[in-house]
Amino acid sequence: MSNHFYDRDLISISELSQSEISLILDTAKKIKQSPKKNLLQGKILASCFFEASTRTRLSFEAAMLKLGGGVCGFSDAGSTSAKKGESLYDSIKVITAYADVIVLRHPQEGAARMAAEVSNKPIINAGDGSNQHPSQTLLDLYTIYECQGRLDDLHIAFVGDLKYGRTVHSLSQACAAYNTKYYFVSPDILKMPEYICDYLSSKGMNYSIHSNINEIIDQVDILYITRLQKERFDEAEFKQIQGKYSLTAEMLREVKPNMRVMHPLPRVDEIEVAVDRTKHAYYFEQAENGLYVREALLALILNKELF
Ligand code: CP
Repeated sequence: MSNHFYDRDLISISELSQSEISLILDTAKKIKQSPKKNLLQGKILASCFFEASTRTRLSFEAAMLKLGGGVCGFSDAGSTSAKKGESLYDSIKVITAYADVIVLRHPQEGAARMAAEVSNKPIINAGDGSNQHPSQTLLDLYTIYECQGRLDDLHIAFVGDLKYGRTVHSLSQACAAYNTKYYFVSPDILKMPEYICDYLSSKGMNYSIHSNINEIIDQVDILYITRLQKERFDEAEFKQIQGKYSLTAEMLREVKPNMRVMHPLPRVDEIEVAVDRTKHAYYFEQAENGLYVREALLALILNKELF
């Protein structure tokens, strides 16, 4: 089988077919079971984070190092020539000459797509504003499969900031390939954008809208909670809803035994720490899986041969 990922960009999850997603998840599983130490020796990853990150940046960088490659980059736009007024276009043009693959996080929606048009090296979108976070979606799918034993026919609740949370946009689109039953739980001002709901309807998916976690918590296999993206909306609006969508250990009393709580992290006050000690918590395993999934992505994009 040929490797369709070789030299390819990853900008949006909707660009991947179901079989391509399966290939990435299978490759991640192989890497988790048996590390590939020198696969990317001599290759360089440019880690370009114009916006804050802990997991995505460090797991991409660790993934490259574990595969034997090297890393250069920055974690703060303020330390780059963007501060002097350099355009993203010019920055990408230059970075392209230094690296074999570019991982880009940027606050502007569409930044990764623009970078892909400018660069002849593969671009991986590590989050562009409120738009997409496709590598997060891949690690979320990997984690769902790992904890449920399947991706098909699951009941998944998406909770919190469904308007600005790019992880829920990417994941809800991806889940349409797996006959998911969706529950959207959010305050009215943070509900799932219409374009996502229209997309799900066009795929024949069934979704319901709720304002309280307790309405649905006993029906779901996955409770996917997100942080309110404080940095993306008005302070007065934020104060009105802060803390209203928090999960406590007490709320888990009547849930299905197989139910697992996921969160892309960082959490603020959406999940109390006591939940971590229940069998339902799965967000730290989810974050760890980011390493294997990102190793798989880099291995497939930078290596012609499948293994
Ligand atoms: N989940 C996620 O994107 O986390 P970071 O913002 O820490 O990268």
